[in-house]
Amino acid sequence: ATFDELHRPQFHFTPPAGWMNDPNGMVYHNGEYHLFYQHNPDSTVWGPMHWGHAVSKDLVSWEHLPIALYPDSLGTIFSGSAVIDKNNTSDLGTKDNPAMVAIYTYHNAEGEKAGRNDYQTQGVAYSLDNGRTWTKYKANPVLKNPGIKDFRDPKVSWYDKGQKWIMTLAVKDHISFYSSKNLLNWTKESDFGADIGGHGGVWECPDLFTLPIAGTNEEKWILIVNINPGAPNGGSGTQYFVGEFDGKNFVLDNNFKAQLTGQSTTPGTVKKGEGIWLDYGKDNYAGITWANVPETDGRRLFIGWMSNWQYANEVPTQNWRSATTVARTLTLENTPAGLRVASQPVKELQNIYATTHKLTAQTVTDALNISEKLSLNTPTFETNLELELAGGVGGFAVELANSKNQRILIGYDAAGNRYYIDRTQSGPSSFSKDFAGIHYAPRIATGSKFLVKLLVDVASVELFADNGKTVMTEIFFPDEKFTRLRLIPNKGQVKLNAGTVTELKSIWN
Ligand code: FRU
Repeated sequence: ATFDELHRPQFHFTPPAGWMNDPNGMVYHNGEYHLFYQHNPDSTVWGPMHWGHAVSKDLVSWEHLPIALYPDSLGTIFSGSAVIDKNNTSDLGTKDNPAMVAIYTYHNAEGEKAGRNDYQTQGVAYSLDNGRTWTKYKANPVLKNPGIKDFRDPKVSWYDKGQKWIMTLAVKDHISFYSSKNLLNWTKESDFGADIGGHGGVWECPDLFTLPIAGTNEEKWILIVNINPGAPNGGSGTQYFVGEFDGKNFVLDNNFKAQLTGQSTTPGTVKKGEGIWLDYGKDNYAGITWANVPETDGRRLFIGWMSNWQYANEVPTQNWRSATTVARTLTLENTPAGLRVASQPVKELQNIYATTHKLTAQTVTDALNISEKLSLNTPTFETNLELELAGGVGGFAVELANSKNQRILIGYDAAGNRYYIDRTQSGPSSFSKDFAGIHYAPRIATGSKFLVKLLVDVASVELFADNGKTVMTEIFFPDEKFTRLRLIPNKGQVKLNAGTVTELKSIWN
C-alpha cells in the first residue's frame, strides 16, 4: 500500500486495499487494542464479508494484520463483538490463557436468495494467540434464527451482578436481549424499543454499557442503536438511549428527554419517532465500544465507520473504500436538555501532535485567515477555538478550502441555535444526490462562549463542540487537499478569546 493517494486519510484507520464498513469485535487484550472490521478484500464495494484485523497500542497508530475470519459453509461474516473469557466459562481456552471469543452474525446469501427468512444466525469463533489465528466453534450457530430477516450484530458483555453474559441483538425494529452462562447456549430475556426512539429504518449494531453521570457516582446504562436509514440528516446514524438494565429488561430513565426544540413540543422522555443521536454529522455509523478496557483505565472507548450507506459504495476513493472515525471517549453529562452522551477524541491523539501554533486573542470583524497568519500548509491538524458571540450576532463559520475554491464550512447558526456543516461546495459530489448539503445539529450547551474543536484529515472533519456535547462527523473529496483555514463571522463580530492549531503527523510512516 502506498497510503499517499489523494483522498487517503493520514491519521484515521483505513484498510490497505478493498472495501471496509462496520468496526467489529473491538477488544483490549495483553496491551493491544484490537480492531476487526467488515471487509471485502476482493473489491472496493460491499460484497462477501470477512473480518479484517488491525491492532494498536494507543488507539491512534494501527498495524494491519491478516484477515481474521473468512466466510464458511454457514455464511459470510457480518458484524459482531469480541470478549475475553477470563473465567473460561466457554471452556474454549484455559484460565491461564483465556480465549478471545468473537460472536458474530452468519449471513447465508443462498438462504436469502431462496426467499427464506432465517438466513441470519449467530456464530462463535475463538483465538488462543492474541487474535492472530482463529478457530470456528464446532457447533455453530450458537443462536438460530426464529424466522426474522433482520437478526444480527450481537454485542456481548459480562453482566457481573447476574454472573452471566448478555447479548444485545438488533432485530429489525427492536433490540432483543439474550443471556448465557458460557457464551454458547443463549436464553431470550426481553425486547426493547419497538415503540420508542428513531424508527426511520432497520435497527443495527447495538451496544450496552454503563457510564457514571459526570461528577457523580451514579451510574446509568447506555443502549446504542445504529439505524439505517432514518438519521437526522439522512441515511445512516447512531442513536442511543439512557436508562436502567437489570439483567433482563432495559427501561428508559426519566431524565432522558426528547430535544427541547425541533423534535418535540412537550419535552418528556423520548417517544416513538424521537431519536437522540451520538453524532449529528452524516458520517459516523455502526460505531460500538471496546470490551475489556482495564478498570484502572476506566474509559468507555468508541469508534465508528466514517461513511453513510447512502453513498458509501460510490465515494471517489482509489483502491480502498472507507475509514473509521478517530477513537473517542464517551461520557454521560447532565445537561439542561437532560442526560446526554458526550464524545471527545482519545487523549492518545497527542502521540501524533507536531507543532502547535497559537493565535492571539482578538475581535474578528472580517474573515480571519488563520492558515496565512500562522504560515500553515497542512491538510491534517487539530484546531481549538474559544469563541464568544455578542447578542444579535448571526454566528460564525470555520472554512476549510483549497486553491480551486472548493470548501467546506463548519459553523454555528445563532438564529437556529444549531451547529452545521455545509459541504455543498466541497468538490466532486455527483456520485450521489445525498452527498452535497447543509447538515445540522442542535446545540446542547448554553451560554455565549463556544469551544470548537476540529479534527481535520485529508478527507474528513470531526467537530467536537462544547466539550463534545454536540458532535458532527463528515467526509469530503476535494480535487486538491484543503490546507486553507479561515474563521468567518456572520453578521457582526466574533471574539476569539484563544485559539491553537496543532499539526498532526501521519500514522502511516
Ligand atoms: C451495518 C450492517 C450490519 C451488518 C453489516 C454487513 O452497516 O448492515 O447490520 O452486520 O453492516 O456488512
